Amino acid sequence: MTSLQTSPPTPVADAALAASARGLTRTYGRGDTLVSALRGVDLDLPTGRFTAIMGPSGSGKSTLMHCLAGLDQPTGGTVSVAGQPLESLDDDALTRFRRDHVGFVFQAFNLLPMLTAEQNIWLPTELAGRPRADHRGRFDHIVATLGLTDRLTHRPAELSGGQQQRVAIARALLTAPAIVFADEPTGNLDSTSSAEVLSFLRGSVRELGQTVVMVTHEVDAAGYADDVVVLADGQVTHHLHDPSRADLVAALAGRSA
Ligand SMILES: Nc1ncnc2c1ncn2[C@@H]1O[C@H](COP(=O)(O)OP(=O)(O)O)[C@@H](O)[C@H]1O
Ligand SMILES: [Mg+2]
Repeated sequence: MTSLQTSPPTPVADAALAASARGLTRTYGRGDTLVSALRGVDLDLPTGRFTAIMGPSGSGKSTLMHCLAGLDQPTGGTVSVAGQPLESLDDDALTRFRRDHVGFVFQAFNLLPMLTAEQNIWLPTELAGRPRADHRGRFDHIVATLGLTDRLTHRPAELSGGQQQRVAIARALLTAPAIVFADEPTGNLDSTSSAEVLSFLRGSVRELGQTVVMVTHEVDAAGYADDVVVLADGQVTHHLHDPSRADLVAALAGRSA
């Protein structure tokens, strides 16, 4: 093995804030076609919480998530993940930082079709050159919790949508990233599979201390979260902690309850 493969993960400050943004702006285009997707977002997401980001279509949810995850570059303002300011990292360092500290779950699962469930779950760890032994205990625990033990040799095409998304969640959780981002993770699932997936995300926060940020437009999905950030027109209008359904519905309608 090369030294690159065996190098330890890039360190992070031990931060109480899993992610934070100050004065975050993101514009697209220019002149007549200028679109302000984010207009000065200040946001603190504490470690160990499950946060849902909600808001109408076009309100900036995906842009915010991509900026917080280091997948998109803000036009202005700052983003820190686990105490690390992202703007101080060059492209290579940012890629390494994401690999080591950020997990992703996508609406479309994004599993590799030729690999078994087990191989898909291990893939990012192996690409990072981490020894499996370091993660074996967590692998067994996560796989058992997600009910995947007897599905490990199956390829994605042999799994239901809900099972595929559980494989994707196991993959995202395996290295205990500082934060997991999920963009509409139940968008392609029926209601039973959605409830399962949301329960597992909820459980990963409660039992593994995982920090999860989920974009969703479904009030029922947001009901699994601890906190809800509501966006409208590129700005945060509400940051609710343990909201009641009535408070959440009122916030989404642009009222205070
Ligand atoms: N690549 C892009 N180029 C131009 N405009 C974009 C791009 N991505 C997003 N936008 C615009 O930014 C705004 C916010 O988009 P987005 O973050 O995708 O909202 P949401 O996820 O809440 O639906 C929208 O007006 C959208 O049209
Ligand atoms: Mg979106």
